[in-house]
Amino acid sequence: MWTQGYVTEIDYTHGYYRELSPGLLRFTCLVRGLSLPDHKDMKYLELGFGQGLSLNIHAAACPGEYWGTDFNPTQVANARELLDGSGACAHLFDHSFAELAARTDLPQFDVIALHGIWSWVSPENQQVIVDIVRRHLAVGGLLYLSYNTLPGWASAMPFRHLMQLHADLAGADAQGLIGKIDAALEFSRQVADSGALFFRANPGVSERMKKVAEQNRHYLAHEYFNADWQPMYFSEVATRLEEAKLTYATTAHLLDHIDSINLTGEVARQLNDISHAVLRETVRDYHVNQQFRRDIFTRGQRWLTTSEQMSRLREVRVVLLVDVADVPFTVKGTLGEAQLQEPIYRPILEWLAIHGPSSLAQLETGLEGTANLAALIQATLILMGNGHVGLAQEDTVIERARPTCDRLNQTLCERARYSADVAYLASPVTGGGIALSRFGQLFLLARRQGLYTPEQLAGFVWSILSGQNQRIVKDGKPIESPQDNLAELLTQAREFQDKRYGLLRTLGIAP
Ligand SMILES: C[S@@+](CC[C@H](N)C(=O)[O-])C[C@H]1O[C@@H](n2cnc3c(N)ncnc32)[C@H](O)[C@@H]1O
Repeated sequence: MWTQGYVTEIDYTHGYYRELSPGLLRFTCLVRGLSLPDHKDMKYLELGFGQGLSLNIHAAACPGEYWGTDFNPTQVANARELLDGSGACAHLFDHSFAELAARTDLPQFDVIALHGIWSWVSPENQQVIVDIVRRHLAVGGLLYLSYNTLPGWASAMPFRHLMQLHADLAGADAQGLIGKIDAALEFSRQVADSGALFFRANPGVSERMKKVAEQNRHYLAHEYFNADWQPMYFSEVATRLEEAKLTYATTAHLLDHIDSINLTGEVARQLNDISHAVLRETVRDYHVNQQFRRDIFTRGQRWLTTSEQMSRLREVRVVLLVDVADVPFTVKGTLGEAQLQEPIYRPILEWLAIHGPSSLAQLETGLEGTANLAALIQATLILMGNGHVGLAQEDTVIERARPTCDRLNQTLCERARYSADVAYLASPVTGGGIALSRFGQLFLLARRQGLYTPEQLAGFVWSILSGQNQRIVKDGKPIESPQDNLAELLTQAREFQDKRYGLLRTLGIAP
């Protein structure tokens, strides 16, 4: 059976994951002090691309040759339709990992990326992945790999076991997978509520159960109900990847780069004293109770001297993604919420609001000593981690990416007429995805058709919704009357015009 126990009855969600973006991966390596080969003719492979939204956005927005596979043909058909829409160049297959490995025409890749795959496939498939990396990751290339990990998952593993067991043994095929998931959730809740000592001894698990019950069933199907599901310690993953000559480089999770919001001074010192990288990372995972790792491994590591690193970091460009008025000047780390120093952060944001994409060097000189380079790097990591700024590509790269991004965005906005599945568009400026809800996409479609005022935008969207007998859902309840729907759309259209449209233009998404 081609599915190998993997869930295929229900399609995966249409998510965009910025950690898969070549720009972010390079940036985090640079912050760590690693030199990566120039990426203008970069070759990129994504394994298990799901609906292919991230891969399509990157192929449209970021230079390079993109390859990818996912063995679910329905998802590949979706991904290929997006690719036809954008006209970008990518090689998309419905091969299993083993079938891909058997191809004789695979090039050497600079980046191999897998998000949400490793913990959900069998040990045999993990070995196939290691073999692909061993044979096809170029020297100097990087692997991005995310996975469920321990110790963070330790207490909740029995909860997953109970749900899976119920779905397998008590679930009826006639229920369909969503029915089985609902029944397994309800059953687990009953076991917990009837006072099972396991749940009493692990109150965090009952909390998790409540959150899980609210999550999208398509996501839950793939997260919890595969035949294979195994969180792994970092040290085990590092050992497996040694076979492919890989060494751990750093994390793609931006806020994990900031020790001060995640570790007390004493813990940071304790970690500094551990010289073995694998032991140090493992102890860090215990301190932060890590559940999900987003690792970057590299094949051959060349470390930059500090001055080389600083001069490359000065060239990094950033762009504002939100209205400055909406930035909260706080950040959440493992230690809780921390205040950001407004005298440092506000001038950075205001500079970007006025000047558009700017390099750290421009910020350093333009802000006249408000923040030195180290503070700017930290601010970039935090503001990017919070989603308030993004990386910006070079101007020539942006211009080349505009047509493919335009066509992909047009395709996605046309789809928004009928579906709210995709909540991202492609930015030629950042080289990645930007969150925009269905209504935001429809407002954009209206603008592309020459409509301009908030009233016109709201009327355009209402004609689409009412034509399909749809109503806006607010606070979990549908708004019934046409007037109230229009009024709500008008409020949203005004906010879109005032706050989003200008930013979307800066990001190369709006005309
Ligand atoms: C949890 S989803 C993650 C999808 C995507 N990376 C994302 O994050 O949106 C895992 C994906 O891996 C694919 N997959 C699982 N086993 C596979 C195999 N042996 N060969 C190819 N694809 C596989 C599934 O079809 C599914 O789309």
